[in-house]
Amino acid sequence: MEIAGNSAVVTGGGNGIGRAISLALAGKGANVAVADIELDAAEAVASEIAALGLKSLAVAVDVSREDDLADLADEAWSAFGSVELLFNNAGVMAPGGPLMQVSKADFDWCFSVNVGGVMNGIRVFAPRFVASGKPAWIINTGSEHSLGVPHLFGGAYTATKHAVLGLSDVLARELPEHVGVSVLCPGITQSTLWRATERRPEEQGGPIAAMPANAAAMALGMPVEQVADRVMAGIENESFYIMTHAHVVEIARERWQAVEGAFATQVPRYPGDQAYDVNEVMKKLREQR
Ligand SMILES: NC(=O)c1ccc[n+]([C@@H]2O[C@H](COP(=O)([O-])OP(=O)(O)OC[C@H]3O[C@@H](n4cnc5c(N)ncnc54)[C@H](O)[C@@H]3O)[C@@H](O)[C@H]2O)c1
Repeated sequence: MEIAGNSAVVTGGGNGIGRAISLALAGKGANVAVADIELDAAEAVASEIAALGLKSLAVAVDVSREDDLADLADEAWSAFGSVELLFNNAGVMAPGGPLMQVSKADFDWCFSVNVGGVMNGIRVFAPRFVASGKPAWIINTGSEHSLGVPHLFGGAYTATKHAVLGLSDVLARELPEHVGVSVLCPGITQSTLWRATERRPEEQGGPIAAMPANAAAMALGMPVEQVADRVMAGIENESFYIMTHAHVVEIARERWQAVEGAFATQVPRYPGDQAYDVNEVMKKLREQR
């Protein structure tokens, strides 16, 4: 997928990975609408992009609200004429702790942004991309936790990132060929994610103090620019999985080996077993109609 000359919308574009993606897109010659719950941060990134001679826009959105995404799409289309790239990137991390102690408010907030936000982006933008008939791409930000990393004391976050992979997997198969899908699976990256709880809106529980321990860990992560470079390459190569942290292959392998081993010992393949394959069942029903 070509980046130069196209226009992009990046949610969570005001800080961290989204900011670096926005700047990398502009570096490649794309116009960018920077959407964020922190309008000042989005405005600062949009100014940096304008200084590079590209069109830019800063929009205040809460991705958990579908109407905000609909307004964002209208603003981006009227500023740029069209949009070809959507980054469903905004994400939050609920306060850490064992799963049995995660409050309903924290769990719901994490799901409403990390999964609800991606779904709102899909609902609003995908039909427009399909109708345009032109090449377009949707990039959903998952995580290494999408691939099987058990993030101890981050269970709600881990579950949201598994959900992002699930949504992306299905979306990639449902959309027509001219609309591509990628899922970005970074490991620890230098960003302001440790401050996520400070930005929580009142109606979703209100702000709470950030945890300095998370800040110290994130400071040791991969620089955001390195992640953004991998994202640009992933789009140009039309990769479904966009990987950034090499060691994560071990974590993915560990999950896969455990799954394969469970099948091998409990239910090894046998002739005719695909009779229960749901896709085969649906095909048979379609043929009978
Ligand atoms: N930093 C990491 O180690 C890491 C690793 C894997 C995946 N990720 C994912 O990368 C994505 C970007 O996070 P980041 O690490 O750059 O963190 P970040 O906090 O620096 O950036 C996230 C941005 O999203 C914005 N945001 C938060 N809630 C929002 C909402 N409801 N609506 C709109 N914007 C909202 C924030 O204001 C912020 O600008 C997230 O989906 C995160 O889960 C981060």
